[in-house]
Amino acid sequence: MDKTAALRQVAERIATDGVCPQLRVGATQLVPGEGGSDAAVMFIGEAPGAHEDKQGKPFVGAAGKFLNEMLAGIGLDRQNVYITNIVKYRPPANRDPLPEEIKAFMPYLQQQINIIKPKLIVFLGRHAMNVFLPELKISQAHGRALRKNGQVYLPLFHPAAALYNGGMRQTLIDDFNRIPLILQKIADEPNPEQKQLFK
Ligand code: URA
Repeated sequence: MDKTAALRQVAERIATDGVCPQLRVGATQLVPGEGGSDAAVMFIGEAPGAHEDKQGKPFVGAAGKFLNEMLAGIGLDRQNVYITNIVKYRPPANRDPLPEEIKAFMPYLQQQINIIKPKLIVFLGRHAMNVFLPELKISQAHGRALRKNGQVYLPLFHPAAALYNGGMRQTLIDDFNRIPLILQKIADEPNPEQKQLFK
């Protein structure tokens, strides 16, 4: 089976397995993720908002527009990265995802990662970062790539949080612009198993 079909199957399984039935009844549709199944970079956000719920695609509102601009700034677009969320139905009134909701979606997020095998996973905001790197604080960890269990991660501020906050916005753009360098360092690494911090 090719990777695109495998990703489609993950989305189908979320529905047939009945993940988070309470969230499902309040949502318009599932927002499984979008982009290239062979993407080198995978972006993981928090959960769909109103626009995403309506369109069935992640990051298509104001934060998504900002994300698209930052992608264009480093010569990428939505088709050559993969974008998803830790929780794939819109929480009511855009509340934060609950720990049990994050836990329920985790196996499916892990399956998406296993299929895509991204070189770099970029967390958009602290909720996504906390799932994988609970020991870190986003205020200190943002913009620094690190390797854990063989996977390289880059925590970033959430684009929605940074959108209207001048200082944070510029920090996010600066951090985001490090992605090509980080990918280059990953490609150049002599020993990919080595635990290494990219400053
Ligand atoms: N914020 C997120 O975290 N995810 C989306 O898909 C949209 C906004």
